[in-house]
This record gives sequence, structure tokens and C-alpha cells, in this order.
Amino acid sequence: MILVTGGAGFIGSHTCIALAQAGLPFLMLDNFSNSRCSVLERMGRIIGAVPVCIEGDVRDAALLAQLLAQYPINAVIHFAALKAVGQSVATPLRYYENNVAGTITLLQAMQQAQVRTLVFSSSATVYGEPATLPIGEDFPLSATNPYGWSKLMMEQVLADVDAAEPGQWHIARLRYFNPVGAHESGLVGEDPQDVPGNLLPYVAQVAAGQRSCLSIYGNDYPTPDGTGVRDYIHVADLAQGHLAALRYLRQHPGLLTVNLGTGRPVSVLEMVHSFERASGRSIPYQIVGRRPGDVAQCWANPSLAQQLLGWKAQHGIDRMCQDAWRWQNGEARSVA
Ligand SMILES: NC(=O)c1ccc[n+]([C@@H]2O[C@H](COP(=O)([O-])OP(=O)(O)OC[C@H]3O[C@@H](n4cnc5c(N)ncnc54)[C@H](O)[C@@H]3O)[C@@H](O)[C@H]2O)c1
Repeated sequence: MILVTGGAGFIGSHTCIALAQAGLPFLMLDNFSNSRCSVLERMGRIIGAVPVCIEGDVRDAALLAQLLAQYPINAVIHFAALKAVGQSVATPLRYYENNVAGTITLLQAMQQAQVRTLVFSSSATVYGEPATLPIGEDFPLSATNPYGWSKLMMEQVLADVDAAEPGQWHIARLRYFNPVGAHESGLVGEDPQDVPGNLLPYVAQVAAGQRSCLSIYGNDYPTPDGTGVRDYIHVADLAQGHLAALRYLRQHPGLLTVNLGTGRPVSVLEMVHSFERASGRSIPYQIVGRRPGDVAQCWANPSLAQQLLGWKAQHGIDRMCQDAWRWQNGEARSVA
């Protein structure tokens, strides 16, 4: 059985659906600090049964010990973290406490229970401002905000834990690029509790009329149309990447570090136009100044994941926008 921390969140819920559809039993743990328990019932409509989710915190050592003793858990996928870059600048201690201390508590509980297989959510943010593109796993690492530092620190903790007990741990550090989209059913998607910090949920809310206008931060970047360029990856592809990593770890002890991206650069304006096609609505936007900390361009070289895991992203941006719009539109959710 696989313990999925942060399983009720955006990427966690899609990964749990993929686990269920692959016939792999899992147990979710989430404190619902950035998700809602209503997702469980909607997941149930997709996979045929409401999944079991323990409401609790990864920083709760006693709870982790109890779960690891009570359930036949042999691997953990660790999504639970706070992820808003701006908030991390304003409240760094909260971020380090939740993300870094939470991961250490989880690793201690796993070590105690002799569970040594872990898939960890890292991020392309650990590459900072890349000198060249596309980004390979061997590129220099740096961070520009506490969220990014928390990911780098957790990556270091995992490397040290692996080095201290060579051959005992099976650890994957998956560096996600820009996860977007939603489940094709329209039942599960990104459910931001605050003003969305990422492009696509914001665009979706503008298309739905919940916000009047999109602000595009800068059109004077050295990119083909001047707007920032990213590597958007469909969350369903990302979910499959976790299953591929679990399969790989079963055969390979040690530390695996791979990019999960498409390798396709897409500008903000391309994404906006794709969303206009998907929704049939026009997206009013204004160009404003660059946002501090944003890099001009960032996209992956995803070939290592293909080579080691046999995994490759399947969906393009039109599909990402169609699925995100179906979710935003909410029609599927209102059908009982
Ligand atoms: N979405 C992205 O753009 C992105 C990019 C790169 C990496 N990541 C990483 O992927 C992971 C999942 O991201 P997401 O987009 O699904 O975020 P999310 O906020 O939707 O999901 C995270 C889940 O973890 C839960 N959680 C947070 N702290 C917890 C704690 N202490 N104990 C128990 N549960 C806790 C939240 O309630 C939420 O359900 C995170 O580690 C994030 O940093 C996300």
C-alpha cells in the first residue's frame, strides 16, 4: 500500500486516481490546508469508490507511526507542502517548518518503520535562472525565495539520508515543470484557496468572468513574443510519471533525480490564445511590469525520464486548456 501525503491536493488527487486505475492500493493523508474534503467524493465518482483519506499532518510523528504500523505501507509519495512563492517570502518560518521539518518527521517515521521507498515532489524552481536551455538534471542549483530553498533543502536531506544508508533507500526526486490541466472528466482539478498565483487557474477565472482581466508580467523578455516562456505539463501526465517512478524504484535502490516536463517551450500569450480556443471566450489582458523573481524562460530536457522510466508526456497545450476549462466551467461537478 502506498501512503500519499498531500493526496487531496491538485497533483496528489490526480496521482491517486492514476494509482486506483492501475490497481495500486493507497492511503491518503492530508491536513486540508490547501484542499477540500469534497474532492474525495468527486474522486470516488471517477474511480468507483470514495478513497480513504486520513485528516492529519505530516508533522505529527505519532500519527505517522500509527499509520505505518496499522496499514501495510511499503512506499510513500510525498506531496504535502506549501507552495505559494509570495507567501513563502512573507512567512518563511511557516514554509520551512511545514515543508522541511514535515519531510524530516516523515523520513524519521519511515526509517523507524523500515519503509524506505519515497517519491518526492521537487520543482524546476531548484534551477533558479538557467544559463542555457533546455534544462538538464545536472544543471547548477539555486533558489531565489524560501519556497525554492525549502525544495533544495529537502533534496539535500534526501541525498544525505540515501548516502548514510547506501543501498537501503529507494528515493525519487521528481522535478516538476509547470503542472496544469485537470482530470478529463471535469470532476477534479486545481482548486486554489486564494487568488491564483499561477497563470492557468487565473486565465480560467478570467474566462469564467470571475475576474475581469489578466495581468501579464512583462512583454520585453528575450523570447519570441516577449512574454515569459515555460514548460507546461498536463497533470495527468505528471501523475503517470509518479507511477513510472514507483516501478523504477522497485528495481533500483538509491537516489533517482529526474525532470518531469514536456520539453516544449510555450509563451504566456500562446497559452492565453490556446485557452481562448478551448473556452470560446476572449481573455482580456493587460501588460504590466515584470514580476520580481520570475525567470524569462524555463523548459526541461525530459530525455532522462524517458530513458530511465520509459515515461514521456502525451498531452499538448490545447488538451491542457480544454481540460482546465471543463473543470473551471463546473458542469460535470453539478451533475449528481
Ligand atoms: N503545482 C505546481 O505548480 C508545483 C510545481 C512544482 C512542485 N510542486 C510540488 O508538488 C507538491 C504538490 O503540489 P500541488 O500543486 O498539488 O499543491 P496543493 O497545495 O494542491 O497540494 C498539497 C496538499 O498538501 C496538503 N498539505 C500541505 N501541508 C501539509 C501538512 N503539513 N500535512 C498534511 N498535508 C499537508 C495540502 O492541504 C494540499 O492538499 C508540492 O510539494 C509542491 O511544492 C507543485
